[in-house]
Amino acid sequence: MAHQEPYDNMTVQARYMPPCGRKEDEVPPPFILVIFGGAGDLGLRKLLPALYHLFIDERLPDTFCILGLGRREKTDVIFRKEVRAALKQFASTFYESSKAETFIRRLHYLSMDAGDANAYTELRSRIRDLNPAGCDNFLFYLSVPPHVLPAIVQNLHQAGLSRGEGARKIVVEKPFGRDRESARELNRMLLDAFDENQICRIDHYLGRETVQNILFFRFGNSIFEPLWNRRYVDHVQIMVSEELGIGTRADFYEQAGVVRDIVQNHALELLALVAMEPPVGFDPDLIRDEKVKVFRTLRILEPKEIDRWMVRGQYGPGVVRGEKVPGYRGEEGVDPGSNTPTFFAGRFMIDNWRWAGVPFYIRTGKRMSRRQSEIYAEFRQPPLRLFGRTCDRIAPNGLVFGIQPDEEISLRLSVKTPGMGNIPRAVDMDFNYEETFSVKQDAPYERLLLDAIRGDLTLFARQDGVEAMWDVVDPVTRHWETHPARDFPNYPAGSWGPGAAEELLRNEGRVWRYSSEGVE
Ligand code: BG6
Repeated sequence: MAHQEPYDNMTVQARYMPPCGRKEDEVPPPFILVIFGGAGDLGLRKLLPALYHLFIDERLPDTFCILGLGRREKTDVIFRKEVRAALKQFASTFYESSKAETFIRRLHYLSMDAGDANAYTELRSRIRDLNPAGCDNFLFYLSVPPHVLPAIVQNLHQAGLSRGEGARKIVVEKPFGRDRESARELNRMLLDAFDENQICRIDHYLGRETVQNILFFRFGNSIFEPLWNRRYVDHVQIMVSEELGIGTRADFYEQAGVVRDIVQNHALELLALVAMEPPVGFDPDLIRDEKVKVFRTLRILEPKEIDRWMVRGQYGPGVVRGEKVPGYRGEEGVDPGSNTPTFFAGRFMIDNWRWAGVPFYIRTGKRMSRRQSEIYAEFRQPPLRLFGRTCDRIAPNGLVFGIQPDEEISLRLSVKTPGMGNIPRAVDMDFNYEETFSVKQDAPYERLLLDAIRGDLTLFARQDGVEAMWDVVDPVTRHWETHPARDFPNYPAGSWGPGAAEELLRNEGRVWRYSSEGVE
């Protein structure tokens, strides 16, 4: 008889297994992490709290240290004070004074101008001083604006810090470049200094539990994969909607806009996970090969098609969560006549055997009605309208991967409403991470930092994929930049975006799952 796992065991494992596997197998070797921009917004809000979580969860080795770099003059003591305050604010549920102090003692600071090649001599000697045990696993995390990146890479290279006896890794934040050409240039420079397997191109969406679960769900269950194609799926919606505006990031956002900030990376990465073929194994490159194939089969649009299938928007003043907020053009640091889009909706087609003819709609924006990221696959209607006399159209089956604020998977089914009539009704079968595993799993940086320290590249983008994503969005940004919108601002803050985005689907006989009319 074929060997079968006892079902009960599987249940127990699923319930108690820690999210990254068994801790003892996962603790990485000693390391020194150098964070360029370590005292900046990302460092204090995300990276250092994530490292602290890993520390209290005993996922870091006994020997490690973290060196924050920045232009501002400050001592270790002041840096530690800032981090202590940040941990209290951003890691509050885990904050425990004695453990926090042990962690904080591992933090150091060096003030330097990262663009100045001479400053790297001091960086080298500081790393040497911090490294009495002779640890040779160094990571350089570049949490800096894109324009500073090339100089840092060159300087690390010239200072002999990019390659060496031990492991050296560089972590680069998205967006990688601002179009295909600049991404290639950046990559050439990175590859002068580092080898491809030393480069971690981070996209924090890929560290999210539900995002990783897309592959587990698709390839770990036999009942959905046969339906996962053009014969059964009517269309897919990918939504990344934010309530926040651009905060203090006007400089960055004015240069980037929504397409470079979200579509080229987070949204297309999600699309690839939904659409990719099963990899032949779970090795990093086998998975990344399949994703790249999806990017390469995405249809590239001509300007006329862009006008038809893509919608741009920019928020005006409005109300979000009961508070009045300014429009994008009224944000500090933004050009009052800015043409930068803060909203995108578009239809993407994947020209391959599995997905031919199935639209993938992406919608994302700042200052939207609510913060909600999800993927929704809607299935086709049943072939016959057997309930035709009581209803024309039953609610289609739909599968939702909720990414945030709630991490959940939900399947919509039709059942009969109790009673005498034949009235179908949609019901949801829900799986919620927090309820099932008793943990809130919104910890993408924890997972990605740990993977970077260990050198596991599965969840990082690869250069060919990055370039293929630029190939898809470059025509859109080019067209929009050469043909400024005449109707900006075209949606009030706190709404679901411009009316044209709703029409985009309505014209095809579909609706967004979330719209001004509510949730589907
Ligand atoms: C970042 C973008 O990559 O993702 C931001 O640069 C955006 O503009 C953020 O706000 C959204 O991330 P999250 O984790 O809040 O969905």
